[in-house]
Amino acid sequence: MRLALTLGLIWGAAAAPLRPPCVPLNVASPYQSTWSCSDNLSDSFPVHWAGATMGLTSMVSVGSDVYRLMGPDPSSVPAATQTSVVVDATTTTYAFSAGPATVTLEFMTPSIDLDDDSAAYNSWPASYLTYTADSDDVRVYFDTPAQPVVADDSAAVTADRSLSTAAITVLRSGAAEQNLVSGTDDRISWGYQHVSFPAGADLETALASADGARGAFAAGESLPADDDESLFPRPCNEDWPVLAGSFALSPGEPAFLALTLDQGVSMDYYGTQLKPYWTTNYGDAGALIEAVHGGYEEVVAKTKAFDAKLRDRLSAVGGSKYADLLSLVYRQVTGALEKTVSLFGEADEPWVFMKEISSDGDVSTVDVIYPAVPMFYWLYPETFRRTMVPIFNYANNATQGGDDYDYGRQFAPHHLGVWPVCEMLERQQEDMPVEESGNMLILLAAVAQRQGGTKSEVAWLEPFFGFLKQWADYNVASLPDPGDQLCTDDFEGPSPHNINLAAKGIVSLGAYAKLLAMRGGEQDLEDAKTYMGIASDLVGNWTADGFIDGDHSKLQYNLDSSTWSLKYNILFDSVLDLGLFDFDTIIDADLAFYATNENKYGVPLDSRATFTKADWEFWVGAMDRSEDKAVFQMFVDTLWDFANETTDRVPLTDWLDTVTPTMAGFQARPVMGGLYARMMFEDAW
Ligand SMILES: *[C@@H]1O[C@H](CO)[C@@H](O)[C@H](O)[C@H]1NC(C)=O
Ligand SMILES: *[C@@H]1O[C@H](CO)[C@@H](O)[C@H](O)[C@H]1NC(C)=O
Ligand SMILES: *[C@@H]1O[C@H](CO)[C@@H](O)[C@H](O)[C@H]1NC(C)=O
Ligand SMILES: *[C@@H]1O[C@H](CO)[C@@H](O)[C@H](O)[C@H]1NC(C)=O
Repeated sequence: MRLALTLGLIWGAAAAPLRPPCVPLNVASPYQSTWSCSDNLSDSFPVHWAGATMGLTSMVSVGSDVYRLMGPDPSSVPAATQTSVVVDATTTTYAFSAGPATVTLEFMTPSIDLDDDSAAYNSWPASYLTYTADSDDVRVYFDTPAQPVVADDSAAVTADRSLSTAAITVLRSGAAEQNLVSGTDDRISWGYQHVSFPAGADLETALASADGARGAFAAGESLPADDDESLFPRPCNEDWPVLAGSFALSPGEPAFLALTLDQGVSMDYYGTQLKPYWTTNYGDAGALIEAVHGGYEEVVAKTKAFDAKLRDRLSAVGGSKYADLLSLVYRQVTGALEKTVSLFGEADEPWVFMKEISSDGDVSTVDVIYPAVPMFYWLYPETFRRTMVPIFNYANNATQGGDDYDYGRQFAPHHLGVWPVCEMLERQQEDMPVEESGNMLILLAAVAQRQGGTKSEVAWLEPFFGFLKQWADYNVASLPDPGDQLCTDDFEGPSPHNINLAAKGIVSLGAYAKLLAMRGGEQDLEDAKTYMGIASDLVGNWTADGFIDGDHSKLQYNLDSSTWSLKYNILFDSVLDLGLFDFDTIIDADLAFYATNENKYGVPLDSRATFTKADWEFWVGAMDRSEDKAVFQMFVDTLWDFANETTDRVPLTDWLDTVTPTMAGFQARPVMGGLYARMMFEDAW
């Protein structure tokens, strides 16, 4: 411990700033997800995670001079000089020199304390922008077009001020035709966005064209005084009607505005529309916005404390680069979630859905929640448990969607639909039998262990123990060689007789045994022994046929020892303390072997190609039990360099080349929760 702390300090002192490929700005959910993907906030417009332009614009005036902070428009206005950008878990802080003034702009989303149902802010679909300046005579300008609430820039939109109160000026915009949950585009085409400002004598707001509002501020004039009602309804891209505001800053005094999204309905679950969880606390968007404004000081204090503690904890374990990377991906992970009321109504516990994000936009894909689990295991196990509840209801024919949706497979489902619509028929499932059954068993055991590991932590599984056995038995029958099955790394093409998949199957039997032991009945305890025995026999087969020359494990049983792959699936043997695989020989040899295959940006996923998966690298690195953690640190350093240098300016990719700083595919995915793997062995938050 002393050594780690000392190293943390040394690394901290040497820290050079990370240049993130994209910087999170307003990242609260898959729809409310705006990023800046250039070095300076003013170099380009922010984008939705998938790349569509969100023309948000901000400027400041200092005396009679005007400077751009965010976005390239108006081009006649010079950019302030950006002096730094720091990305913490919940907060991104930009600093600028705007002529003689120093101005800071913070973007904060209060997505912390996710397991605490009394912390209402954890489900606010809201972010704050906080401005400060160190000198007199500074005014801020901010606007947003309706792009964040249309899937197509030519959609007709409206805007109004109907939610304003004496204390808060609220501007909102949305599609003129509100068709809830219409379509599965990555951008939302319904609901309303709000820009809200604490009312003040010097506040000016306008519903006006972008040129009208920005031009007025740039010219040192007041914003257009009368809302231009003739603008609405009209296409979002016809003169770009914006919600605009401008206010003065007092030196040293932060001033904020809030961005909220009221999407009305979060998910369609087999025909039932599930509302956002925040609706259980607030009757409508007006009440939500009041809470967001009233809670500002409290949540700023909480998020700042969280961000700082997170950085400290992470630096002590893995150095400042580890803290940089894990802070950078925090909102990427939480921003892929949607917390809703359950199918069974408001009185029931909340449900949580996770979007796969860039890879097809699937809902609650089991082999996407699996790689994300480390961050949740360490910080939010209950939230993670809730991501599994909608999947179990589907597997249990309990969707209330009718017989069409009956699920009769002997193994676990793959996913529920395409965001935000859960409507998968059994025959549409992308079957990955050992993969998904193994994932579910491992995840369930991990969460139950983290939550206490007794009978009460598995009580919620009582209706489902029937399939847990079925899934475990399916895996027993498929091992030691899973044959021609698809596994999660299918983007690399099929890999039959896959040894890493076999490892997952084996660990999943140990996990099942753990669940039985927690359940604790006489028969359960007996069965637990049986499944542990099977698992440990299978490790014998695995080792004999997969790890033949004592140097490293192979890629597939049917290939020779020139092949290899990252055996990330063994990690949970250690997390669950199953004692199945021999870490002293197998794991230590594999880790040493990986180090001999290091490229500039990491170690390939396997011997077939130079690309890798960042999440799996960090899973593997978490198995490094050596004193100096050199293999773990290799993964941290190479991914940090990749993030700093990649020419693909997208929210951090998890599928990247290890030789050139380019992505292979996938962006902004929650699987980056896997970077927290090492933290599963540390003290709880
Ligand atoms: C960012 O802004 C600085 C000046 O503020 C400028 O020197 C630099 O070229 C800009 N970066 C890019 C990529 O435009
Ligand atoms: C769900 O329905 C399918 C098809 O009717 C059936 O095969 C399966 O056993 C059912 N599952 C449960 C848990 O009842
Ligand atoms: C697995 O190992 C056992 C001995 O431990 C052996 O009897 C069995 O044939 C092996 N199975 C396969 C498929 O190699
Ligand atoms: C980050 O990348 C830039 C070039 O893109 C480079 O100049 C800088 O040295 C890198 N930082 C570190 C610490 O390697």
